[in-house]
Amino acid sequence: MLEIDLTDTITITVDGQRAQVPKGVNVIEAMRVVGKEKAIPHYCYHPKLSVVGNCRMCLVEVGNPMRDRESGEPILDDSGEPKIGWIPKPVIACSTHVIEGMHVRTDSPTVLECRNGVTEFLLINHPLDCPICDQAGECRLQEFSAEHGRGYSRFKEEKNVKPKRTRLGPRVTLDDERCILCSRCIRFSQEIVQDDVLGFVNRGSYSTLTCYPGKELSNNYSLNTVDICPVGALTSTDFRFKMRVWFLKRTRSICTESSVGANTEVWSREGKIYRITPRRNDAVNDTWMTDTGRALFKAFESEDRLSAYSVDRVPKTLEDAIAATVALLAAGSVGVIGSAQSTVEEQFLLRQLVDKTGAYFEMVQHQGEGDGLLLSEDRSPNLRGALLTGLINTLPQTQLENFQAKIEAGAIRTLLVFNEDLQDLSIDLDAIKHPIEIIYFGSTLNATSQRAKVLFPSLSVFEKSGSFVNQNFRLQQFLQAIPTPVGLIPDAAVLRQILTAVGVGEAMEPYSIEAIWKLLSETIKEFKGIEWASIPEDGIALEASAFKDMPFVETENLKYKPLAIEEVAEA
Ligand code: SF4
Ligand code: FES
Repeated sequence: MLEIDLTDTITITVDGQRAQVPKGVNVIEAMRVVGKEKAIPHYCYHPKLSVVGNCRMCLVEVGNPMRDRESGEPILDDSGEPKIGWIPKPVIACSTHVIEGMHVRTDSPTVLECRNGVTEFLLINHPLDCPICDQAGECRLQEFSAEHGRGYSRFKEEKNVKPKRTRLGPRVTLDDERCILCSRCIRFSQEIVQDDVLGFVNRGSYSTLTCYPGKELSNNYSLNTVDICPVGALTSTDFRFKMRVWFLKRTRSICTESSVGANTEVWSREGKIYRITPRRNDAVNDTWMTDTGRALFKAFESEDRLSAYSVDRVPKTLEDAIAATVALLAAGSVGVIGSAQSTVEEQFLLRQLVDKTGAYFEMVQHQGEGDGLLLSEDRSPNLRGALLTGLINTLPQTQLENFQAKIEAGAIRTLLVFNEDLQDLSIDLDAIKHPIEIIYFGSTLNATSQRAKVLFPSLSVFEKSGSFVNQNFRLQQFLQAIPTPVGLIPDAAVLRQILTAVGVGEAMEPYSIEAIWKLLSETIKEFKGIEWASIPEDGIALEASAFKDMPFVETENLKYKPLAIEEVAEA
């Protein structure tokens, strides 16, 4: 996933084995490329932050081919191989870049002794409170202590005692005693968010992480410091002590907060979501995401969640709701308000319904202030999907004035609405003189759902699988993380049944996402050759050149560019 030029390689020898590694990377990254990332334990190094080399856990032995000082020719040993001059002391792998012919020892007695010593040093003042620590299960200090520690303590003196619960900001809590002073959180705040808020005070074993006077860690990326803290020092105030991480199931997903489409992981147990964390995708979000994006799942836990199909505000079966919908559509004069929150699959099926019914279609664009990082002005995950599926071909408006005029003129008598509240769109149904019926697809109670004749409760992005196309035309897949509420099926499956009822694609297979993708790849040129099962975890960059010049495609406005590893090495 790293943007490393794998064609420009050099040969090094790691623990006696030759390996081809990219030029210019540091020794830790070289190990990762050859599949031996566990060979060098490390704390302070992070591939997306500058290198500071302060934990010393990554010490290795390094040697380089010797050359004759006068001729510059390699000096060969008895077997004709270049003679290796070993650097007398171990060096840190994170700030040592590979060169041709380099030899690295990651498991020599000296290296093992160094790791053992560093681990003992880090544990001197550590409270060793793993049984009650929230980081257990994902703590590097715990893992490396088990692997590289001596298994007992020689420290007889009193440990330093530091505060156990310091509020750094509204979402992050610090346990000072556990901090190993790696400075990842400081560098993240300075280098990625440009919010210089954290620093160390005092000296030696009294060094403590703190916010600068008058500041707090409150930026919209603060929880990323919790993710990258290698120990249990920084914890999420919301998640701490709620659940042991080894009980949680991890499902890959996509953040729906904006068109950036940050890659995420949903952590759940028994149908309940406990937290959302970023998933590494160097082409989209590196390893970061917004704090607001992490909290989106809470909206679906509200009491306003719609949970039953209904007709005339009376709970009915899905079949009854579909029959009522088909009857309304058959009467004609249909208007459809689509949504950029809908998945590619839903938009594709809706397009077929719009074509079949000859409905008047519009969609709105939801905008907000972009932050220049991972929150774009376009606050919907799939506006590009609507372009590719042909639902829209021009810039959507933020309000629907045309719609209001058509309704008032009587040209629209049935309104099919997806995920929008008409109240927010300048559509005033109370001003309409003639009767108008609403078919509503949405997940939470609002003025439109209360007025709807037919109601189809929608599933959240966590309860279904599907795909979005992000602002850079990257097709990204998300998977169902938690079970669907009892009795509900995905909007795409409902649309599929409505289409069958109105006579579209009777010969199509029963609903399955694989079957929809078969059709998508046959009918939309940008999706040609793509199967549902073949979409990789980090997505597919689509060839959507026809749309790239459109004024609202903000690719060039995204100031945040994921860093290539070479750039990080320079930093
Ligand atoms: Fe490192 Fe965590 Fe301490 Fe920050 S709080 S310096 S990330 S150990
Ligand atoms: Fe900390 Fe290299 S990873 S010194």
